[in-house]
Amino acid sequence: MTAGSDTKRVGATGTAPGKIILLGEHAVVYGRPAIAVPVTRLQATAHVVPLPAGTGTWIRAVDLGRYYRLHQAPADDPLAHAVRIAWRAFGNSGEPDLEIVIHSTIPIAGGLGSGAAVATAVVRALAVYLGRSVSPEEVSALVYETEKLLHGTPSGIDNTVVAYERPIWFRRGTPPEPFEPGTCFHLLIADTGVSSPTRDTVAAVRAAWQAEPDHYETLFDRIGTLVARGRAAMMSGSPARLGTLLDENQELLRQLGVSSPEIEQLLGPAKSAGALGAKLSGGGRGGNIIVLVEPARLEAVRRAMQQAGAVRVVETVLAPSSRRDQSS
Ligand code: MEV
Repeated sequence: MTAGSDTKRVGATGTAPGKIILLGEHAVVYGRPAIAVPVTRLQATAHVVPLPAGTGTWIRAVDLGRYYRLHQAPADDPLAHAVRIAWRAFGNSGEPDLEIVIHSTIPIAGGLGSGAAVATAVVRALAVYLGRSVSPEEVSALVYETEKLLHGTPSGIDNTVVAYERPIWFRRGTPPEPFEPGTCFHLLIADTGVSSPTRDTVAAVRAAWQAEPDHYETLFDRIGTLVARGRAAMMSGSPARLGTLLDENQELLRQLGVSSPEIEQLLGPAKSAGALGAKLSGGGRGGNIIVLVEPARLEAVRRAMQQAGAVRVVETVLAPSSRRDQSS
């Protein structure tokens, strides 16, 4: 929808995808690189609808079954935070007369970037409503403020990949580098059904790092090295090499202490059914795993994980832009 005064009367919509971390979570908080990709099959949507003057701002979080007034939201409410930050950043003061209706198909606390996606959808909807065009950098910077509220010490990778909607090489403090995969990579994203807030796992790794800094720095370095090899494998179009790197990353994540029995319960059957590689994605200790699979093995691997207890399996294809219509 184009922005402008008509838009303002009828309302506006913003959307944003989910995300997965392909390689490098946790170490990325400590300055190592990581690779993340958007998952457009999972989406957050925000609709902004004008209300009569004096009504104030109302937030309807459909999936959470919540409907509340902005000024009554608790200080740590991330949706209210996103609305306030964007409203002010776009040059306004006070509280607008708006209803903001939010839907999302991205599981919460599953490592798929639901918080960043919902905040991004809100920022984009308000931008359209106000007739503002916003760059991915601006969106990412605004959403980072809500990520801090949700995650404590986030690296910024979630808001970045969700705002850019492209595979990115991310390193804290440097501009993100979007890049092109050299071929199609087929991934299954399987949900353990265990919700695991990123804030908790990031805090657990921090406590472990504080107790044994040298040991954890070594693990982070090893993760950083395999992330660099991962980008090369992706750009040169080598699923087999990327699969091996996913497995190696998973082993290092185990050593960081963020795997869990529910994650391992899905990884084993996926590998036995022919996956090229598999790992947890995001904070860990629950949430989702990602599994790289050759197209011919997709159904067998999907079935194996469902039989092992996966509550949902979503397929996504990481495709070069020339073949992007295949991606999901
Ligand atoms: C969360 O998607 C990824 C983590 O590395 C946390 C972060 O980067 O902020 C676990």
